[in-house]
Amino acid sequence: MEKKICIAIDGPAGAGKSTVARMVAARLGYRYLDTGAMYRALTWQALQEGLDFSDEPALVELARTADIQVLPTQDGSPQVLVNGQDVTLPIRSQQVSRQVSWLARIPGVRREMVQRQRRLAAGGGVVMEGRDIGTRVLPHAELKIYLTASPRIRATRRAAELAARGEKVDVHRLEEEISRRDLMDAGREVDPLRPAPDAVYLDCSQMNIDEVVEFILDRAKGVN
Ligand code: DC
Repeated sequence: MEKKICIAIDGPAGAGKSTVARMVAARLGYRYLDTGAMYRALTWQALQEGLDFSDEPALVELARTADIQVLPTQDGSPQVLVNGQDVTLPIRSQQVSRQVSWLARIPGVRREMVQRQRRLAAGGGVVMEGRDIGTRVLPHAELKIYLTASPRIRATRRAAELAARGEKVDVHRLEEEISRRDLMDAGREVDPLRPAPDAVYLDCSQMNIDEVVEFILDRAKGVN
């Protein structure tokens, strides 16, 4: 039997990581783990509780105690629960998207999340997607992909996704927001967004989803 490996997919917002990771996981019969959803769920809860986003100890305490579950579903997209409440849709709101990078830059919050994520990946057979998976969470992952695309293309793809859900957004505004989030994710002190030295760097600006998926599956075969 082939060994069940860990595949880390990192990259900036809107590069298509979630779709690609989900499809790769489905093809391999692996678990798909969306770590951004965990940071989003925490942000959602902090907003619900009216926490002050400059109160780092309170946010770290929330990260330590929060009851967050990211459950697989039939169609492969994860269902996210906070204290048993389904927050799958609200965590994708613009309000959460605007705050999440701020919370994700707090070292204590990251420490808690990384511990949880490592536990989830124990035993292998996972495709884990985020910003620091190859560099921090799973430095020994057998396959690491750094997936990126130009900010304009990422904004256009995100806008199409939001439009499909009935949310109307301005592509230029989205591009600005994405660029701001990139800056914060790549500029933070702890585990910034960057390719691991041993990651395969893949700019998918000119590729469609199926091509990216096949590329990764091909690399995964090479590992086994
Ligand atoms: O992938 P996403 O857009 O849902 O992630 C939301 C935010 O969470 C992103 O702006 C940065 C943060 N994040 C992180 O810092 N580390 C991860 N492993 C995943 C996400």
